[in-house]
Amino acid sequence: MLLSYPAHFVKDFSTCTFAAFKNMKYHDEIQRRRTFAIISHPDAGKTTLTEKFLLFGGAIQVAGAVKSNKIKKHATSDFMEIERQRGISVATSVMSFEYNGILINLLDTPGHKDFAEDTYRTLTAVDSVILVVDSVNGVEDQTRRLMEVCRMRDTPVIVFINKMDRDGKNRFDLLEEIEKELSISLHPLTWPINSGKDFKGVYNLHDKNIRLFTANTKGDEDTIAIKDLNDSVLDNHLGERDAAQLREDVELVDGVHGELDVTEYLAGKVAPVFFGSAINNFGVKEMLDTFIRIAPTPRSRQTSERELNVEEDKMSGFVFKIHANLDPKHRDRIAFFRVCSGKFERNKYFHHVRLDKDVRFSNPYSFMARDKSIIEDAYAGDVVGLFDTGNFKIGDTLTEGENFFFTGIPSFSPEIFKEVVNKDPMKTKQLEKGLLQLTDEGVAQLFTQFGGNKKIIGCVGELQFEVIQYRLLHEYGASVVFNSLPFYKACWLTSKDDKKLEDFLRFKQANSGEDKDGHPVYLAQSEWFLNTEKTNNPDIEFHFTSEIHK
Ligand code: G4P
Repeated sequence: MLLSYPAHFVKDFSTCTFAAFKNMKYHDEIQRRRTFAIISHPDAGKTTLTEKFLLFGGAIQVAGAVKSNKIKKHATSDFMEIERQRGISVATSVMSFEYNGILINLLDTPGHKDFAEDTYRTLTAVDSVILVVDSVNGVEDQTRRLMEVCRMRDTPVIVFINKMDRDGKNRFDLLEEIEKELSISLHPLTWPINSGKDFKGVYNLHDKNIRLFTANTKGDEDTIAIKDLNDSVLDNHLGERDAAQLREDVELVDGVHGELDVTEYLAGKVAPVFFGSAINNFGVKEMLDTFIRIAPTPRSRQTSERELNVEEDKMSGFVFKIHANLDPKHRDRIAFFRVCSGKFERNKYFHHVRLDKDVRFSNPYSFMARDKSIIEDAYAGDVVGLFDTGNFKIGDTLTEGENFFFTGIPSFSPEIFKEVVNKDPMKTKQLEKGLLQLTDEGVAQLFTQFGGNKKIIGCVGELQFEVIQYRLLHEYGASVVFNSLPFYKACWLTSKDDKKLEDFLRFKQANSGEDKDGHPVYLAQSEWFLNTEKTNNPDIEFHFTSEIHK
């Protein structure tokens, strides 16, 4: 076995006293869970790969059952389409399935870049990610940004280089590009033999065998055992030229990488790489098998007060996503709650820290592929759907009485800012309610400008403004239009000197305001303005995320 395993893969029963028995149960539940997300640039193959995973897990029976939740470009003005897509993306938001005794929670992320903020938040709820890179297009913009978020949290990453059946970039160049662009060290565990029409399969650098490429495999067949790379079996199957090329490639790769140190992967420093073709179900099973062996089990987490050990028996967790109007006939919202420790139980009272009140849930949902079912309990790593009548916002924490918040669930600065103009003064109250609820869901961020008291909505993409306008009208009866504003970033402000901060906010009224929770923000018109203000105000700190206030 070449992979070196960290200590937590070895179960130690020697310390199991009777008192620890309850925790032991949690320990076992935790050990069998893997909670992760697949991330990619749209069209790289995330949906296809997800579907293959679900097929292996037996959660779906036929290909084509999972619909891509990407909102295609032409849909930007087609609201029915947006609604339909939203419905689909809820249904496929969390997919739980078992594979070889391991319970896998796969959290879906929206493909469309305008919903990137939603993806960032989902990444706070997972323990690892699989990054899909298109072998033809390489690293694309959105991949870069998603990986930045992973790096902020040291999230372990496995890379799947997809579409090897197409003529892609040179594999060495591609690896170099990914390493450079995403600032992560790569460690190939399989190596491709050609690509495109000449794609012959992959050499498994770890198991030292060859898998010949055939379209739409079930995952197991066509593995060729070889004694070593000099085995003539290789020449028989690949032809002399390709066998020689493979030997050369492998010598190079082995020379650079050696064996994979799993602790480095778990620390988010090294990403194992697999090559394959999701549509052909090629290379997928190998990755899944390795994934369940090395991917992290639910981890301990930092809170505002202390580090929370994942094996603690008291339940705790946080809301990372809120979805409204699953069923258009009802106004319910569904809050996605990630359990971080202990056991979540149906009908048990838990402490809602922000509201300082006890709440219980009679119909908590779990997600099994596209079906939802009521659950009795859930453990660390699980995601539970909670019906919400307006009690939750992103980041809310439930505990068994202790007061703390989970850290690392920031809001990022929006990139497009628009003033909200109320077209129907009779509906002011409805508008305010709608804005508050939609921003609680994390659809957008709301700021109030100090000079002029303007309500400003900040989003990552244009499409979100259309969604907000549509939802305000259809769900709250409020009619609005948006006026574009020339801001490029919102920075949250802190200072040890209250007076200096107060003065700054007063002098810069047109460019300052507060977020929904009353925290001061500076709305920068350009990078130049921002840098100038930073230089002129050394006592004030400018932050690109709201994390500082958690
Ligand atoms: P996404 O969720 O990341 O946006 O990507 P998705 O899986 O929807 O895949 C995007 C396109 O790439 C799809 O084609 C899909 O069939 C194709 N694809 C996925 N994996 C592979 C692969 O290994 N090789 C090749 N050649 N193509 C692959 P489409 O034409 O956009 O959609 P569809 O009509 O096939 O559904």
